Amino acid sequence: MSEERIAVVPGDGIGQEVVPVAVDVLDAVGDFEFVHADAGDAVKAETGEALPEETFETVANADATVFGAAGDTAADVVLPLREAVDSFANVRPARAHPGANALKPETDLVFVRENTEGVYSGIEDEITEGVSTLTRVVTDRASRDIAEFGFDYAAENGYDDVTVAHKANVMRETDGRFLENVRAVADARDAEFDEALMDALAMHLVQRPENYGVVICPNLAGDVLSDLAAGLVGGLGLLPSANVGHANGLFEPVHGSAPDIAGDGIANPSATVLSAAMLLEHLGYDREAASVRDAVEGVLADGPRTPDLGGGASTEAVATAILDEL
Ligand code: NAI
Ligand code: MG
Repeated sequence: MSEERIAVVPGDGIGQEVVPVAVDVLDAVGDFEFVHADAGDAVKAETGEALPEETFETVANADATVFGAAGDTAADVVLPLREAVDSFANVRPARAHPGANALKPETDLVFVRENTEGVYSGIEDEITEGVSTLTRVVTDRASRDIAEFGFDYAAENGYDDVTVAHKANVMRETDGRFLENVRAVADARDAEFDEALMDALAMHLVQRPENYGVVICPNLAGDVLSDLAAGLVGGLGLLPSANVGHANGLFEPVHGSAPDIAGDGIANPSATVLSAAMLLEHLGYDREAASVRDAVEGVLADGPRTPDLGGGASTEAVATAILDEL
């Protein structure tokens, strides 16, 4: 293995406890150079800035980044870091794991969310007293990129069902454009997919998650529907995510800094270790990624388990068990 450079940004709260576990796991399966950097509330208290320029540069210049979480400064840290890696796709798998008490054990969903535009364009104004507007931006380029990525992901990861969430019946111009681009991409590669109105889809995902696989979404829909799916598989301690750029990537658990348990040594490291598995896959280490995922699944099935999953084990005990499985 060549020595790729991985930026490590634990951030605040339990980020400090779970990111080191992911680093140990990466170290166990590969030959990486780790560059440590920091960001978040604690850094802001010390330096006045939540995201020091040096951290931004470290992340921008690394081959990939493992990020933990930030506290109150999350938006000031996460959004620029996603930009630092030029991330156009946010990938959020919501998979039920045996032993993890999922509400819907048959759930195996992957949300592929457009990560740069839509209603998160940041173009908001108060146009007159008491009236505010937001500009929803949808471009051919970003819509095509996310569609290409979604169909590739489905093909490479063995998902037969691809669904595109939209509301083009109402937002004819913007979601119309999004949908047209998905259709064109699917046509060009002769791929099949379903089109689903996002509100009805929310209901169907709860009732029959097993009917769905990869779900390609505009930005806001992906944010909301993936959190809904998180609720189906049992908890934030389990959900990884990837912010994928054309060359770079930022890998982080979906959860935040969990101030209620920070410092207690009981945070579930699974979400962050599964994020590290996504990092490995992104760098082309599919075999290593699969072994990391198997190790986490083995520990989820047989224990030890942290308190969020009904167990009594520490972060360290779970980390040791994952490394032993590896
Ligand atoms: P949170 O995800 O930090 O915690 C929600 C609940 O889930 C808490 O009860 C927590 O103990 C539990 N939990 C989360 N991760 C866990 C894990 N790995 N193991 C065991 N239990 C876990 O969300 P919350 O409480 O809404 O936000 C706390 C802080 O985190 C806020 O300051 C918020 O701004 C920040 N945040 C940062 C994010 C980021 O950096 N990407 C994302 C979400 C929140
Ligand atoms: Mg969200």
